[in-house]
Amino acid sequence: MRIDPISGGFLGRVEKRLSEALDGTDAPPLLEAARHLILAAGAKRVRPLLVLHSGRIFREDDPSWLDVAVAAELIHSASLLHDDVVDDARLRRNLPTANVKWGNTVAILSGDLLLSLALRHLRGVDPAVVQEAIETVGKMTQATIGEVQSRGRLDLTFDGWRDLAAGKTGSLFAWCSRAAVWGEADADSLGALSAAVERFAVAFQLLDDLKDVVRTASGKDRLSDLRNKEPNAAVILALEASDGIRDALRGLWDEASPDPGRVGEMASRIASSGAVDRALALAREEVSTGIRLLGDRRKTPGGAEIARWAEELLSTVPAKGDA
Ligand code: FPP
Ligand code: MG
Repeated sequence: MRIDPISGGFLGRVEKRLSEALDGTDAPPLLEAARHLILAAGAKRVRPLLVLHSGRIFREDDPSWLDVAVAAELIHSASLLHDDVVDDARLRRNLPTANVKWGNTVAILSGDLLLSLALRHLRGVDPAVVQEAIETVGKMTQATIGEVQSRGRLDLTFDGWRDLAAGKTGSLFAWCSRAAVWGEADADSLGALSAAVERFAVAFQLLDDLKDVVRTASGKDRLSDLRNKEPNAAVILALEASDGIRDALRGLWDEASPDPGRVGEMASRIASSGAVDRALALAREEVSTGIRLLGDRRKTPGGAEIARWAEELLSTVPAKGDA
């Protein structure tokens, strides 16, 4: 999202709160691992900005936004620390992951610590918002389990993939918006806003999956979804388009430890199968449906920033995939 003076001022306060929250020495390796991830230069702070701009659609300012934004970033960071263990990821935000630097135990406990810090930031907010935060973590966890259980499946449909993306990313995006406008927006507006940002989250996740397969500067280890047999939108779309790719992928995934050269060749086949264009078209559809759901709110302060960010997401992946 673009950083205008309002966003910049808000993010400055979010950064200060995050540093203060991580400024203890009582559990050195846990906080060190958390700081390594959260204070890394590559963090985009999408969720705090979603809180701010969703809130601005309905009112000028509110002191609860800061607590909600910090809690959202802490929940997100906790989920990434855990996710990198689940995915055995090596690189995030252009840095070695916490599990590589400190091991799985520290990475997991560091995530747990962040989750407790997040809940602490929600002490003063409406209990209904806290309840939704707890349910959101549940949805993220269910989707992650669903993803692990879908590893290696060649029959997962795009809709099946979409449900997982909505659970693991859409639920937290939606919570950011709902928590920011709680008590201010009527039920219809609340529903439309959360449905819109859930669409943007699915587009975001579609593009994230594409970045695993095509060459982009993602700051993460490329091809890990293909290596880990992970459900990935681009792979699913390529499978739908070509039986040849299905047979080749079955052969690759049947191997105990697939040769990196063959994984690279598979990525090239997927990238040139039309799956990149198809994924970009689907992401575009998600974004335009989301913007339609925003209705006239897309022209309001805050709504305009969210709509522009969603449209700009689409340019983060090259239109012609290069594997
Ligand atoms: C990244 O997906 C992972 C998520 C968006 C959510 C992960 C959720 C959990 C581990 C459960 C919730 C846990 C807590 C502590 C809140 P990805 O692997 O597709 O993206 P990546 O490429 O960034 O790794
Ligand atoms: Mg991951």
